[in-house]
Amino acid sequence: MTNARVTIDPQFVVGAINRRLFGSFIEHMGRAVYTGIYEPGHPTADDEGFRRDVIDLVRELGVSAIRYPGGNFVSGFQWKDGIGPKEERPRRLNLAWRSTETNQVGLHEFASWTEKVGSELMYAVNLGTADTTDALEVLEYANIEKGSTVSEQRIANGRTDAFGIRMWYLGNEMDGPWQLGHSPADDYAKKASRTAKALRQLDPEVELVASGSSHPTMATFPEWDRTVLEYTYDDVDYISCHGYYEEKAGDLGSFLACGVKMDRYLDTVIATADYVKALKRSDKTLEISFDEWNVWYLGDNLRSFPRQADRFYRTDEIEGNDWPEAPRLAEDVYSVADAVVVGGLLISLLRHADRVTSASMSMLVNVIAPITTEPGGAAWRQTTFYPFALTSALAHGVALDVRVESDHYETDEHGSVALVDAVATHDADAGRSAVFLVNRSQSDDITVTIDLAALGTTAVLDAQTMADDDISARNTREDPDRVRPTGNTSASTDGSVLTITLPAVSWTAVSLG
Ligand code: AHR
Repeated sequence: MTNARVTIDPQFVVGAINRRLFGSFIEHMGRAVYTGIYEPGHPTADDEGFRRDVIDLVRELGVSAIRYPGGNFVSGFQWKDGIGPKEERPRRLNLAWRSTETNQVGLHEFASWTEKVGSELMYAVNLGTADTTDALEVLEYANIEKGSTVSEQRIANGRTDAFGIRMWYLGNEMDGPWQLGHSPADDYAKKASRTAKALRQLDPEVELVASGSSHPTMATFPEWDRTVLEYTYDDVDYISCHGYYEEKAGDLGSFLACGVKMDRYLDTVIATADYVKALKRSDKTLEISFDEWNVWYLGDNLRSFPRQADRFYRTDEIEGNDWPEAPRLAEDVYSVADAVVVGGLLISLLRHADRVTSASMSMLVNVIAPITTEPGGAAWRQTTFYPFALTSALAHGVALDVRVESDHYETDEHGSVALVDAVATHDADAGRSAVFLVNRSQSDDITVTIDLAALGTTAVLDAQTMADDDISARNTREDPDRVRPTGNTSASTDGSVLTITLPAVSWTAVSLG
């Protein structure tokens, strides 16, 4: 057993927590949509064909906003395929995921579903095979009330009120050679800049996201981001980040410290954005949209998910080499250790709440997701469901920069890393606070002394810990509740100091009031 110390002071505000930090992502990929959220023949299906069991779980997860419809898919998507009578919609080949897209779910259906789950709809336009005209048309269709041919078409298709979508993504991962329409940074940047100007001219209320690097390991990172921002800085509100994390070659120590990797990535993107701000003598500070993040075992999925480590997609690895409907792609089954890492990544996002004002866990259902479904069968929570749900439920108000004093350990990937990481949140109006902690030690429980004296919110309302004697334990169809958080009975406070023991390899949320 070792010890650590955390000091919390409400004066040390990082920034207000934007609810969009607890966003997610649904792409037309694998079974995210079909047999994920939508399955007309399912026993729980509602009158629109959406699974009620999944709707209930998404609500419980506390997802504030959902990015749609891709991802790589969007770079070949013709948005008009997804509107109008369902029986007339085309069956298209989904080139990104070598599958068949039936278009039974499109903009109208997805917007209706987001209303059912209580989330904001955020929309990505195709800047791969399509152009500014196409982006303008979908914006006009979605956001102009009435009176133009395109807006009247929406009304004729059954939706009188405009969808009123605020957040728009200018393409997806355009730095990736796997992306349809992949182009050099300045080609994409010019296209993104003229598209952004046009979209804002049509609807000044939109918030726009330029496509940053698809991963910090890209050889073009961060030069891509710098170039894109030099062209688009005045036109956009956000630059995007994407980051996927996995345990490589059994290096659990490095994996558990992925939050450090996310911190460093974010710090570089922020520095790049601020460099361009300085170049432009601009008063505007750019925000970050971390619109794809999660644990993803890309290495293990090479047969079912046609992607090589060099991030090129190989279509010849799909068995049968056909174009299946809703194939099982990237259906990672997450362990306790994965959930601890997800909790750690949420800590990193909160620590950057001043700049990261939108984030999407990628994805939501079946594909690298916290929720899994069986066609015609059950839906259940993966281990990663819990840190997301608890953080979304408890992190309100402002994020606080806490002082952590902890022993360190050596990692191959990130050097020396603290065993304990933490962030706190404080909602002065509600008189509530929360502390989120990880213990990355693989061998030792750690007792943490948390100095709350300055907070004023000192009673422990609840303390939940994700841990297990078997850190590879997972929830499955056969045993869907094998892993869930349990109350941490070690938590005690004398009003100014909270003491809590964190088991080895664990994530904990403490609610104070
Ligand atoms: O989330 C799955 C894929 O990962 C997305 O389509 C792409 O943007 C990323 O590479």
